[in-house]
Amino acid sequence: MAIDQQLNARRDEARLGGGEKRIVSQHAKGKLTARERLELLLDPGSFEEFDMFVKHRATDFGMDKTHIPGDGVVTGWGTINGRKTFVFAQDFTVFGGSLSETHARKICKVQEMAMRNGAPIIGLQDSGGARIQEGVASLAGYTDVFQNNIKASGVVPQISVIMGPSAGGAVYSPALTDYIFMVRDSSYMFLTGPDVLKTVTNEVVTAEELGGAKTHTTKSSVADGAYDNDIEALAEIRRLFDFLPLNNRAGTPRRPFFDSHDRIDTSLDTLVPDNPNLPYDMHELVEKIADEGDFFEVQQDFAKNILCGFIRLEGQTIGVVANQPMVLAGCLDSDASRKAARHVRFCDAFDIPVLTLVDVPGFLPGVSQEHNGVIKNGAKLLYAYGEATVPKVTVITRKAYGGAYCVMAPKHLGADMNYAWPTAQIAVMGAKGAVEILHRKDLSDEEKTAAHIADYEEKFLSPFRAAELGYIDEVIKPQSTRRRISRAFALLADKIEEAPWKKHGNLPL
Ligand code: HXC
Repeated sequence: MAIDQQLNARRDEARLGGGEKRIVSQHAKGKLTARERLELLLDPGSFEEFDMFVKHRATDFGMDKTHIPGDGVVTGWGTINGRKTFVFAQDFTVFGGSLSETHARKICKVQEMAMRNGAPIIGLQDSGGARIQEGVASLAGYTDVFQNNIKASGVVPQISVIMGPSAGGAVYSPALTDYIFMVRDSSYMFLTGPDVLKTVTNEVVTAEELGGAKTHTTKSSVADGAYDNDIEALAEIRRLFDFLPLNNRAGTPRRPFFDSHDRIDTSLDTLVPDNPNLPYDMHELVEKIADEGDFFEVQQDFAKNILCGFIRLEGQTIGVVANQPMVLAGCLDSDASRKAARHVRFCDAFDIPVLTLVDVPGFLPGVSQEHNGVIKNGAKLLYAYGEATVPKVTVITRKAYGGAYCVMAPKHLGADMNYAWPTAQIAVMGAKGAVEILHRKDLSDEEKTAAHIADYEEKFLSPFRAAELGYIDEVIKPQSTRRRISRAFALLADKIEEAPWKKHGNLPL
């Protein structure tokens, strides 16, 4: 056989992975193969593969007779809309995508190249976990991957897409990355599976209930989003990728935009209802501010009382955190604080400016909140905003009460530009609560109580007291919000803020 024919034959063999039968079985489960997934994720023809001929080195349990080139993971690099990324995709058709010593080495190689070359790493996970035949060599391989995840954290964005099983300690590599996305009905993640649970704790639960996409996007918050199938998931990862910088020094990406930065939107003047107890959908404001109305939301099914995600202003990526009055009246709670804190820290690590939209009546009261550590969780968000040195612009649309005012990126936590709409109410608490405390003895007298409420509302329930003190830089018209914040972020583009030297802070974990 001619030498190039030999090469072609070896490549064809490697591309077949675990063989035709297992590929059919993979498709029958509604899943694509590792290579099909990479084709959809990356620009056509851009994928360059590494280590296609790597074979495992195990000899026990007859493994010396079962070599499959590639060893269950396809690795390499390619581009997404012309920007480079490193990738690995586990191949379930080869030993169930299980991780051997050499499989781990292949992943470590792309992780290290991603760090050296300043490009993100995207891992498509579909694996039965540690290669049982290899014992501790496999565990060591996992731990090498974890160590690289930790090294790469804050250096290059790391995205995990769970597209099949992810069980046991295998879950910890995705858990160490910036984002986890799952595919509905074909992926699951758990430390201990249903069979073991049944034996050890007598709990009877299906894999889907225990660790499917719904569980992890609505209950545990382990995952940041879920999609109906492989194709949709990979298309959305491409969309997210466009918002992200390549590394922590590259600066936020700027893309062509087709939306005037000084677009006025008069419908925003009536977004906040006259009745302060009525909700409105904060998505509307975010989308009306964003270039072309494009908002990529993360964790949209968890802690829905706060919105987190990315938009672009004049083509530049901006991280958004916004209270959502439609859910729990927009109150902060443990879950919302953790969710937003993580988002702010991601943005700060990768130099993405942060826009905060505030309408928050306070922290959610309750025994369960206190017992779930709302003190520590609220402190996470406080800490995240206070340590973030990226440009920070805040707009208060309505309520900014009490401790929640202090947390939601006020001037005092280093926000650069603080705006308020004329409808803003910035105070320690709402009028009724305040009067009940300050004028307890008059509460039986309706007239007096009404007068006290009116007096309090006039004094405190407006943005002007805060503006008089310089805590609000400007009271702006809702219709001109996009123009004002676009100009603010343009002004802040060269912001430099040095934090005092430290090894690292002690985030309240
Ligand atoms: C070696 C494995 C394997 C593994 C699956 N296979 N998991 N080989 N090591 N961990 C092989 C199977 O033998 C089978 O080979 C092929 O992959 C497909 O597996 P099936 O069982 O036929 O597939 P399916 O029915 O879809 O079930 C998938 C599965 C199941 C649920 C993942 O295979 C399973 O339970 N695997 C074991 C999971 C596990 O306990 N892993 C260890 C977790 S502990 P053939 O040749 O028949 O096609 C762990 C520790 C990490 O990961 C610690 C890090 C700190």
